Amino acid sequence: MTSLGKKEIPFHRPYITSEEIDGVVDAVKSGWLTMGPKTVEFERKFGDYVFAGSGIEQDRRFAVSFNSATAALHLALKAVGLKAGDEVILPTNTFVATAEVVTYFGAIPVLCDIEEDTHNMDISMMERLITKKTRAVMPVHFGGQPCDMDEIMSLAKDRRIAVIEDAAHALPSRYKGKLIGTIGDITCFSFYATKTLATGEGGMATTVNEGYARTMKINRLHGISKDAWDRYTIKGDWFYEVVDNGNKYNTTDMNSALGLAQLRKVDWMNSRRAEIAKQYDQAFQNTSIITPLVKGDRKTSWHLYVIKTKNRNELVEQLKEEGIGTSVHFIPVHQHPYYKRTYGYQEKDYPISNSVFDRSLSLPIYPGLSNDEVEYIISRTLKYAE
Ligand SMILES: Cc1ncc(COP(=O)(O)O)c(C=O)c1O
Repeated sequence: MTSLGKKEIPFHRPYITSEEIDGVVDAVKSGWLTMGPKTVEFERKFGDYVFAGSGIEQDRRFAVSFNSATAALHLALKAVGLKAGDEVILPTNTFVATAEVVTYFGAIPVLCDIEEDTHNMDISMMERLITKKTRAVMPVHFGGQPCDMDEIMSLAKDRRIAVIEDAAHALPSRYKGKLIGTIGDITCFSFYATKTLATGEGGMATTVNEGYARTMKINRLHGISKDAWDRYTIKGDWFYEVVDNGNKYNTTDMNSALGLAQLRKVDWMNSRRAEIAKQYDQAFQNTSIITPLVKGDRKTSWHLYVIKTKNRNELVEQLKEEGIGTSVHFIPVHQHPYYKRTYGYQEKDYPISNSVFDRSLSLPIYPGLSNDEVEYIISRTLKYAE
C-alpha cells in the first residue's frame, strides 16, 4: 500500500454533477433569482424527506429555509421566546455559531463538557447546569452522531426547557430509528459547502409547531407578513406590513436548485461515506489510532471521521506534506479569547473537551473520494500516527 505515489487530496470536495449545474442554470434562466418557486419546492421536498415514516401528520410537518444554519438557529431561539438574561446550555465542543446566536439576545451561553467516546454533550453535566434561568438546550450531533435524545427530551420536558437541535452535521442521521429533524422542538441543518448536503451557504429548520414555523418564516424576511415571492408575482399585491423586528435571512432559488439536486442523492452520498468510514475503521483497528465510536441505537451521517492520536499536530503537518488535507473539530468555545473574556469560562471545567481537542484530527470523508485515495490516506496515516 505504501508504494502509492504522492496524491493531492483536499479535506473536502463537494459532490456536484450535471444535475446540480442544470438545476442552477434553470433557476437563473427562469428570471427568479431570489427566494421563489424552487425554494418553496426545496422546503416541501426536504420536509417530505425528513418526516417520511415519522407518523407525524402532513399538516404538522414544517421546513423553513434560511441562508445558513446560523440564521436558522438564531430564529429558532427567537421562536421559543429567548430573552436577555436567559441561559442556554450547549456543548463547548462545537462551531462558534451555536454559542454566538445565544449572545444575539443578551442571553448567556452555558457551556457543557462532552463524552470522551462520542464527543457529544455530557448529559449528566447538562443536568447539573440547569437553573431557573435555563430557557433552552442546544444539543449538537457531533460529526453526525445523534446525542441521546430520549434523555435530553425527558430532562427538558420536565422543566419546560426548549430543545433546539444543532443538526448542522446530521443529515441523514437516526436516533433509535427516527431521522434527526423530527425529535426536538426545532432542528436546524446546515448546507454550508462542506456539509452532507451542500448548497454553498444555506440552512433549514424543521418543526411540528406551526407557531414556531410562522415566527421563523416572518422573521427571516425583515418581519414582513409575506414573502417577496407573494409580492412580486403577477397575482401578488404590493401591500405588506412589518409585524416583527426581523432579519434578512432568506435563501435564493439558485441555492435551492442545488439543494433539490443534492437531496435526490443524499442517501447514496451517505452510503458512500459509510463505506469509507468502514475502510478507515478496518485499517485502524488494533493500532494506537482511536477511531470514532457509533452507539448501537444511532446512525451517523458520517459528516466527519475524527481520529484521536498522541501526535495530532505533527500528523497534520506530515499529512499535509504528503498532499492530504485534514481539519480539527473543534477548538472548544471556552478557549476562544472573546468567549473566555466575556463569559469567564475556566479551562478546568472542560477537561474532556480539552483533551479530545488536543488529540483529534478529521480525515477526508466525502462521496467523491476514490478507493485509491482512501487507501493512500490510510497508508500515510498508519505511517505517521502515534
Ligand atoms: C456544529 C455547527 N453548528 C452550526 C454551524 C453553522 O452553520 P452555517 O455555516 O450554515 O451557518 C456549523 C458550521 O460549520 C457547525 O459545524
